[in-house]
Amino acid sequence: MSSNLVRLTYASTATFKSDRSGGIEVEVARILAASRRNNRAKEVGGVLHYGEGYFFQALEGQRATVDELYNRIAEDSRHRDVKILTFEDVDDRYFADWSMKYVPLENQIQRMLDRHGIAFDPYRFDKAIVDDFLKLCVHGEDPTTELEAQAANDAQAGKDNRPWWKRLIGG
Ligand SMILES: Cc1cc2nc3c(=O)[nH]c(=O)nc-3n(C[C@H](O)[C@H](O)[C@H](O)COP(=O)(O)O)c2cc1C
Repeated sequence: MSSNLVRLTYASTATFKSDRSGGIEVEVARILAASRRNNRAKEVGGVLHYGEGYFFQALEGQRATVDELYNRIAEDSRHRDVKILTFEDVDDRYFADWSMKYVPLENQIQRMLDRHGIAFDPYRFDKAIVDDFLKLCVHGEDPTTELEAQAANDAQAGKDNRPWWKRLIGG
């Protein structure tokens, strides 16, 4: 049954100051940890992109769940000027395996933008660019996968039991 499946994308501007420890923004790590915990339980997911002080996020799931989640996220004071870019019924998820995939700008996306000679400004993404961007995100590497694997190894070796994001934010 996929009749109620929707995909919503939005752009927003981060309100926190940059703090990159361990190659990933500390505040973004916090957001990802909460997202993964909550989204899995609600069968909602998608991708989060952070770059140049902007967020771009896609949320996929049942319409009512996505609506409710979007409204909660939009009130979060860690970003402002939240603008919906696309909202559509879909047959399939792009990010079915992810509670919230994370794709930073440093990867393929930056190279794509450089090729086109454009800066990253998600507010200016039209539907065609959103679709292209989402496809890049589907193929893009998630650096937290590596961090998760390391954390699992360390836990198994009895070295450190903290999840990757706790090590990053210190806790
Ligand atoms: C850019 C951005 C994206 C977010 N994405 C999600 C998300 O996908 N899922 C989620 O549960 N919370 C997300 N949040 C966090 C929520 O706004 C909120 O802090 C969180 O859901 C509270 O969860 P908790 O009550 O479990 O701490 C996001 C916040 C920001 C700023």
